[in-house]
Amino acid sequence: MSDSSPLHIIDLIRKKRDGNSLDAREIAFLATGAANSSIPLEQLSAWLMAAFLRGLTLDETHALTLAMRDSGEKFSPARLGKVAVDKHSTGGVGDKTSFLVAPLAAACGVAVPMISGRALGHTGGTLDKLESIPGYRTALTLSEFETVLEKCGASIVSQTPTLVPADRVLYALRDRTGTVENPGLICASILSKKLAAGLDALVLDVKTGSGAFLRKPEDSAYLAALMVATAEAAGTRTVALLTDMGQPLGRWAGNWIEVAESVELLRGQRPPQSEDLRELSLILVGWMIHLGGQALTPEAGTKRAEAALADGSALRVFLAMVAAQGGDTKVFDNPAAFHKPGATRVVEAWQSGFVSEMDTTALGWAVQRTGAGREKAGEPVDPHAGIEFHARRGARVEKGQPLATLYATSPALLAEPEQILRRAIHFAETPPPAVPLVSRIFTRKTAEDYLKTVDSD
Ligand code: URA
Repeated sequence: MSDSSPLHIIDLIRKKRDGNSLDAREIAFLATGAANSSIPLEQLSAWLMAAFLRGLTLDETHALTLAMRDSGEKFSPARLGKVAVDKHSTGGVGDKTSFLVAPLAAACGVAVPMISGRALGHTGGTLDKLESIPGYRTALTLSEFETVLEKCGASIVSQTPTLVPADRVLYALRDRTGTVENPGLICASILSKKLAAGLDALVLDVKTGSGAFLRKPEDSAYLAALMVATAEAAGTRTVALLTDMGQPLGRWAGNWIEVAESVELLRGQRPPQSEDLRELSLILVGWMIHLGGQALTPEAGTKRAEAALADGSALRVFLAMVAAQGGDTKVFDNPAAFHKPGATRVVEAWQSGFVSEMDTTALGWAVQRTGAGREKAGEPVDPHAGIEFHARRGARVEKGQPLATLYATSPALLAEPEQILRRAIHFAETPPPAVPLVSRIFTRKTAEDYLKTVDSD
């Protein structure tokens, strides 16, 4: 077949179904057809299932990422006159590092154009959390986004309707056709949006453990290496950190309560239950500052970020960003007073022992069922609902001691999260083995080496 011969979607479905690979022109045909609706949804769905079952090669993943990136409008941070760096997490429970790393990196001289998502499955969404601040607008135009970035150095917004339209269509189809959990499709979906934001560098927080989309360390490692190699091949300096999602991150999971916990840390406070959140945020932002050219090493980047925490400059960036996006910063005068859940229940430990294991995906669903998440796309979320975790993995608790506090929209919504929580938290007589917060780091070189070893298996 010559390069200019017409393409037909039925041939591309058959080709993938039979285990063959598509070339870049064929992949671009698919991405364009998804974006402009010229390919019917049933044929896109059939192709997605073939790709899910057969897998995508590295070349196909790279081609799909670029074709999706190019399917719509793009943002160019060039006019900001700063290196543009973002952080992206593959999704977790209580994961609020964005509220810390964005202002910290901006306070250290890096521009952070962060285009974020909503709650997905059992995981929380950065936009839903930010919208718990009265007035905060996440749906900015690209020119408003640029104005906030110029003024504050960081801006956290939602995807515009015209940015990466191919992902909008393919992602919704994957959600409905059971084709989400495929590394090539996840990689292309996440990176197409990040690359369309014109980033110079990117730090990926790839979750592993009981609360991650890909729970097994080897699956998370493959996804991490694939994303680093793909983003680097597209010209964006990228590292990926494999981080523990074997328990919720920090003390709170919900919407407003996560923003409040982040602001507590930005104010320099150090509650012991939030220490993992603080530590991970400082490691991630150390890499952002390093890749953004503001520190010679990631460790030196972390030191700079610690100084920006201590002198209040990161807090000032955060509050300036909230105000610039229409948010009422007065709620931060007394965050606890602003928290007004419809119903509260303390769940006590039902036995004594060490907290040994948590099914964090189940805990994420428990958070969602308090009213903090949505059952169907488009539903509103309760800004005040969520769960406060009083004991972390490895803690010794006595029977009757508070284990968690549930904050729900109404008393009727307390029973189900409590049941889930009681099944999700396990006790043992001895402490569990310690799990490192960051288990592995992939740079371009280590990612490429890793992919070679996997390919030759
Ligand atoms: N987040 C995305 O944007 N896409 C995926 O496929 C998974 C998580």
